[in-house]
Amino acid sequence: MSFSVVDVTDWPLMAEEPVGADVKEWICPPRAAALADGREKWWLYKPAKSGIRKVRGGLELSFRRMDDVVERLVCELARLVGVPAADVELASRSGVEGMISRNVTPTGWEFQSADIVLAGFPGYESCAGDDRPRRRVGHNLDNIRGLLRDAGGPPGNCGNWSAFDVFVGFLTLDAWVANTDRHAFNWAVLDRDGERRLAASFDHGSSLASGQPDGDLEGRDPLSFAHGGMVTRFEAPPRTTLVEYALLAQTMATAQGKEWKERVGGVKMDQVREILDSTPRLSVLRSNFLFEVLQENQRRLTI
Ligand SMILES: Nc1ncnc2c1ncn2[C@@H]1O[C@H](COP(=O)(O)OP(=O)(O)O)[C@@H](O)[C@H]1O
Ligand SMILES: [Mg+2]
Repeated sequence: MSFSVVDVTDWPLMAEEPVGADVKEWICPPRAAALADGREKWWLYKPAKSGIRKVRGGLELSFRRMDDVVERLVCELARLVGVPAADVELASRSGVEGMISRNVTPTGWEFQSADIVLAGFPGYESCAGDDRPRRRVGHNLDNIRGLLRDAGGPPGNCGNWSAFDVFVGFLTLDAWVANTDRHAFNWAVLDRDGERRLAASFDHGSSLASGQPDGDLEGRDPLSFAHGGMVTRFEAPPRTTLVEYALLAQTMATAQGKEWKERVGGVKMDQVREILDSTPRLSVLRSNFLFEVLQENQRRLTI
């Protein structure tokens, strides 16, 4: 079994998404667009990204990043542990490879980036206009727990959980898949007439070594790669690992939010192998490397 690649060439453009490094397109299956079914039927199309690698002699080489592929992978891994996350499909649009991420905003709800809602906290430094917001002051667990007080889990899966307990699931997933990009534009809150909920997780493109060309993975130790996953997007002490941060967040959660540890621990590596084997655009070298990274991070999260 191989995950399908959806041809979205004839999906009409509904809107442009200005947030992020490059403009992206909100598109919609033609039939839903004709019926004006609402934004929950919209998907965000993101073409595969390229990266730049400096080589000897001052030359710069461009390479294909794997963000689209890892977004598809993380969507499956999130399903395995039950973390609410956007549906993702691999896609091609006019022959360009990419992926689509289904809108996490159900009809009737307003989507608010965490960066906007955290602006109410004294001293919070917005990451607007900054693509690489490092250790952003105010983006920390205390403020996030305060912000999410009285908010529920995403509509649907985990809907009766507290928002912070679900957010702890996001951090646990991030640690498992080495997602280094959970800044305040990469998570959000939903509002419907004053009722507030956490939005399901999205943008997992900077996970699972997506920015490393295959050549860099050759001969590289996956275990040391796993141990090198550091928190950079939160106000946390330097050299805090993603695993340490997730475990710290679990100590701040209710009994429900502590469940993530067992949920990750309960994943059979055979299931992970099957997901990797089903993912197109993935070399055998990368697939084997990611298997080892996921196995090691699972071990670190559950000891
Ligand atoms: N599945 C989704 N549902 C709702 N909004 C989304 C979704 N995916 C992305 N967005 C919105 O689009 C913005 C840019 O998308 P993102 O996936 O973060 O792209 P980038 O890789 O450029 O950071 C996000 O900050 C968020 O506001
Ligand atoms: Mg983003």
